[in-house]
Amino acid sequence: MLPTPHVSCDYDKVYEPSEDSFLLLDALEKDRAFLTQFLGSQGVNLVCEVGCGSGIVTTFMMQNNIPSKYSIYVPTDVNPWALESTVGTVQRNECGQRFFSPVRTNLVHSIREQEIDLLVFNPPYVPAETVPAVPQDWELDPTKVASEQRPDDWLDLALLGGDDGMVVTWQLLNNLDSFLSAKGVAYILFCARNKPLDVVKHMQEQGWQSELVEHRKAGWEVLSIYRFHR
Ligand SMILES: C[S@@+](CC[C@H](N)C(=O)[O-])C[C@H]1O[C@@H](n2cnc3c(N)ncnc32)[C@H](O)[C@@H]1O
Repeated sequence: MLPTPHVSCDYDKVYEPSEDSFLLLDALEKDRAFLTQFLGSQGVNLVCEVGCGSGIVTTFMMQNNIPSKYSIYVPTDVNPWALESTVGTVQRNECGQRFFSPVRTNLVHSIREQEIDLLVFNPPYVPAETVPAVPQDWELDPTKVASEQRPDDWLDLALLGGDDGMVVTWQLLNNLDSFLSAKGVAYILFCARNKPLDVVKHMQEQGWQSELVEHRKAGWEVLSIYRFHR
């Protein structure tokens, strides 16, 4: 079993690694050989973890050459504290010489279309009345907005996924074709209330291949991770 990265963040502002984060690590470990074969062990791959939070997942991939030692890691988050934490987590763990450039953006909107080879997303998946709004002027002065934002707002943004807990996930899945490279593959986490079988059926109807990689009961939640590729 591959070691879990050491993480130490301010969990009042950044999502604390939980069962969902650890299930994602297990899925990536399980699929390590598949990914190396699918994406190739020699070429440069662009890896984007959307919503990197503490940075535990990106650090795990960097430490373990997932998908290869030539990968470029560009994690994103809307929460500025998450990006700061991700940099700290990468520094705290032995990641070797890796190209690593975190970006503050909504989903993957600052990344050129059809460039991402490996996309990983543990989204805000808890069903809720609404998805909390992202501060609108965050691009102008992120430090100011971050310090004025109440910590609860950032944690709400990490958890609450609107209708069926799927609003943010659908924003990603509906645009997967323009986000992923031709050989790209995405790993997405769902809870049972997201109705993942319905999601998979819809994606398959759109021409995507979908496979269940991991599945686990975590407290009263049942979590699953599906892999999507063309
Ligand atoms: C459930 S947490 C997962 C954190 C981390 N990846 C993990 O597995 O521990 C969801 C993360 O997504 C981020 N997030 C929420 N909406 C987002 C969006 N539209 N674009 C990018 N990141 C987003 C949150 O700030 C939070 O860090």
